[in-house]
Amino acid sequence: MRPNWLEIDLGAVVHNYRVAQKCVGSEVEVWPVVKADGYGLGAVAVAQALRGVGAAGFCVALLEEGIALRAAGITQPVILFSGLSGGCVEQAAQWGLEPFLYEPASDLATLAAAAPGRPLRVHIKVDTGMGRMGIAPSEVAAFLAALDRLGDRVRVVGMVSHLACADERQRPETARQLAVLQELLAQPELAGRNLRISLANSAGLLGYPAARYHWVRPGIMLYGASPFYPEGSWRQLGLRPVVAWRSRIIQLRNMPAGTPLGYGHSVTTTRPSRLAQVPVGYGDGYNRRLGGRGQVLIAGRRAPVIGRVCMDLITVDVTDLPTASVGTPVTLLGRDGAEMIDIEEMATWLGTIPYEVICALGRRLPRRYLWMAQVCRTRHDLHAATASCAEGTETEPPPASPLPGLST
Ligand SMILES: Cc1ncc(COP(=O)(O)O)c(C=O)c1O
Repeated sequence: MRPNWLEIDLGAVVHNYRVAQKCVGSEVEVWPVVKADGYGLGAVAVAQALRGVGAAGFCVALLEEGIALRAAGITQPVILFSGLSGGCVEQAAQWGLEPFLYEPASDLATLAAAAPGRPLRVHIKVDTGMGRMGIAPSEVAAFLAALDRLGDRVRVVGMVSHLACADERQRPETARQLAVLQELLAQPELAGRNLRISLANSAGLLGYPAARYHWVRPGIMLYGASPFYPEGSWRQLGLRPVVAWRSRIIQLRNMPAGTPLGYGHSVTTTRPSRLAQVPVGYGDGYNRRLGGRGQVLIAGRRAPVIGRVCMDLITVDVTDLPTASVGTPVTLLGRDGAEMIDIEEMATWLGTIPYEVICALGRRLPRRYLWMAQVCRTRHDLHAATASCAEGTETEPPPASPLPGLST
């Protein structure tokens, strides 16, 4: 296989989970968000690592994401953000998945027509000011009453809402959303129902103690980025980066000054240059806009990506790195010696957010999971490695060691 892979440090995910748990205290449950295949890093691997350190449940967006967790042996409760839009009552009940409900007319009709076999556990999604999915607070009491009339088909276990602006700490909207939720919870129709309440994502749980309620839903902080980016960084929160992206130089060429390079001849060398070909491209999720803007790490130093990013290749100017040769490791994300390119920095180059950087990591990149300094190449390896954690013998994992042959 070509040298182009991801290293995902599950010890760092566990550390970041513990930062979240420590922040909210032991009374509040932390339910990791592993939708979109764990933000691109592997939902099953992340869930396997976190269930052993006490994650009470997990959150996914889609029915098929929930089924994938069940198929991998995850037995904890799993929330479905997407609700019943596919009419999936029987499957959700069969797999023990708990949807959000947010569309009373069609949800009630879907549930009335279904025969789930066992009560479907659901959570009412209320829009307290996000302006996206959810029912208005004024509709909640009537929706609950209508759900009660469906009898045994359904059991309302919780109510959730989502924060619009928690990542920007100076904004007033979060306090307003909290006030709306508090007012709703004070309604007599809700009293005595023992609903489990959840409001906070990563930014909410870190920035707003009053937003924590019974359980919180962190995503991005578990994957090693600050939800407050670009105002804050993972370092300030005591998080650990999770993902490294590695490759190797597969060709080195000396080019005279004045040589036009690559598709469109978008750049021309201005000096005699040594140029490295690295087998990584936009087909792997290396964004095309990084051509002429991105950097990689080689031998612990930064080198620029020049010319256009191709589907399977980038060109790196290594004129100033005399030790570079064919086979030399290249780090696109992660640490190499004293230097590091993290997902926040790549997001800055691209004018986007760290979420998009990791969600875009291509499916064709092999993912190698590091656990307690072991490299797990198969699901079986991973299962065996994380089992020690599930049995309670897990200790603070050491920083992941680089793969053999990758130290510079
Ligand atoms: C409903 C809901 N809750 C929680 C999260 C996790 O958010 P974050 O990754 O910012 O912690 C998301 C992510 O998009 C979400 O949609």
